[in-house]
Amino acid sequence: MSSVAVKPLRIVLAASEAVPFFKTGGLADVAGALTKALADCGHEVTLIIPDYTPLRQNKAGLPAVHDTGLQFTIDMNGRSVTGEVNWARYPQSTATVLLVRQAAYFDRGQPYGDAGGGYADNSERFCFFSRAVPEICRLMVLRPDVLHCNDWQTGLIPALLNSRYAQIAGFEQTASVMTIHNMAYQGAFWKMDMLLTGMHWGFYNPSHMEAWGSLNLLKTGLAFADQLTTVSPTYAREICTPEGGCGLDGLLRWRQSALTGILNGIDIDVWNPATDPLLPAPFSADNWQTGKARCKAHLQQRLGLASSPRTPLIGMVSRLVDQKGLDLIAGCASALLHRRVQLAFLGTGDARYESLLRDLAKRHPEQVSAVIGFDESLAHQIEAGADLFLMPSQFEPCGLNQMYSQRYGTIPIVRQVGGLADSVSHYDGTPAGLETATGFVFADYSMAGFSTAVEQALSAWQDAAVWNRLVRNGMHRDWSWQQSADRYVAVYHEALAKVASRKAENRL
Ligand code: ADP
Ligand code: GLC
Repeated sequence: MSSVAVKPLRIVLAASEAVPFFKTGGLADVAGALTKALADCGHEVTLIIPDYTPLRQNKAGLPAVHDTGLQFTIDMNGRSVTGEVNWARYPQSTATVLLVRQAAYFDRGQPYGDAGGGYADNSERFCFFSRAVPEICRLMVLRPDVLHCNDWQTGLIPALLNSRYAQIAGFEQTASVMTIHNMAYQGAFWKMDMLLTGMHWGFYNPSHMEAWGSLNLLKTGLAFADQLTTVSPTYAREICTPEGGCGLDGLLRWRQSALTGILNGIDIDVWNPATDPLLPAPFSADNWQTGKARCKAHLQQRLGLASSPRTPLIGMVSRLVDQKGLDLIAGCASALLHRRVQLAFLGTGDARYESLLRDLAKRHPEQVSAVIGFDESLAHQIEAGADLFLMPSQFEPCGLNQMYSQRYGTIPIVRQVGGLADSVSHYDGTPAGLETATGFVFADYSMAGFSTAVEQALSAWQDAAVWNRLVRNGMHRDWSWQQSADRYVAVYHEALAKVASRKAENRL
């Protein structure tokens, strides 16, 4: 339960993916864990996500999904499109999950796209989803205090609340909050897609829905939402600069007083090395050596790497895209292999990075493993079995793997950006530094910067006492959602206060 006594709020969260149902990246972890954390604080929480039905059908361990019997229709540019609503109870929580079913839009092989890129009708699919969210709230009489939107797929919702739904019963007091998980994905589409939004053409202007000649759904959310958040304090500052704002920094500077950076937490029940059912041996901060050694041996065997307890094993679990610093890894790979380390990669993404890693593994089978695919159990086993974890990102709004790795006693090597800078403390080689250090952080996005951090890490690896301290420091850190959930609730109250004062002004 929350440490702060709060009046329970009716919160509706909207996201395009959420664990345990559908996941392609960190958004899913956050949408699921925040839902649970807010409900644990005593709030009435409903999470609304699309129902990519085939993707959940053979998944083990999911809660039962039921039909609500509710149907709704949205006019998509003159075409009536009907959706249905399924529901489930969020696991170990009082929160409800509503799954928006629309077979033509959501019964696909992946949530967003296939090998050829994003689906051609993504703007239509997610305009439909965004328009479904307030419509379902209306039909189910949810009367939300706060509608919390996440990323461009839900960016239209704050605009709808301020226009079509402004006068509708049940939305009089509803405040909107827009969370940016990644400025690099904005949902920018041909301007004629305005016709799918249900918004008046008058809003197609640079103060509202248009950016650089396109309809921009992230911008729409940022322009209309009462409060804005992003997933770390450092990223909140970075996106207000031309370097980090991906073309929307002007708007963000204008709205800076409404913007808060809140570091993500992690689901400490799911990511707990002492109880994780996906690990061959459990371990905790006080007895990590034996359990972690067994996890490492198991991982080396599973991946076909040489069985060698004393060889540093470096892991990486990632979407394989430019953001994640794969060009640095490519550039430093042969130097790394000369240092007699092992590398374990798990990821999917751009074809060129997939083949680069596959190729590396083929040429060095005892030293490098590359599993190209999405594998939840292997992700946990790499977090637990590796000694070091790589996240040399170009930019990183928050990043979750560096937190998972610290909790699993795996020392992260990260670049000093976004949430990585906010969650990893650099070991500078001094006894004072060792008191709090949890990893290795480098500033320059360059092969020299990255190699220096790797060298520092490998030299710390030689000293068992230093290593033990780094591992224990990381494992003892508190990554629970509690504090972050309290911060979101504070933001919700700021958003509600704004709505109340707007209403009061309108009454005058
Ligand atoms: P991002 O959201 O930018 O991809 P994050 O670090 O926030 O980065 O979150 C990524 C999440 O997705 C983590 O939970 C990570 O373990 C998981 N993940 C990424 N790629 C894979 C994969 N190939 N298999 C299993 N899990 C993966
Ligand atoms: C995005 C970001 C990542 C962040 C995640 C969850 O996918 O790339 O840094 O951790 O969202 O907020």
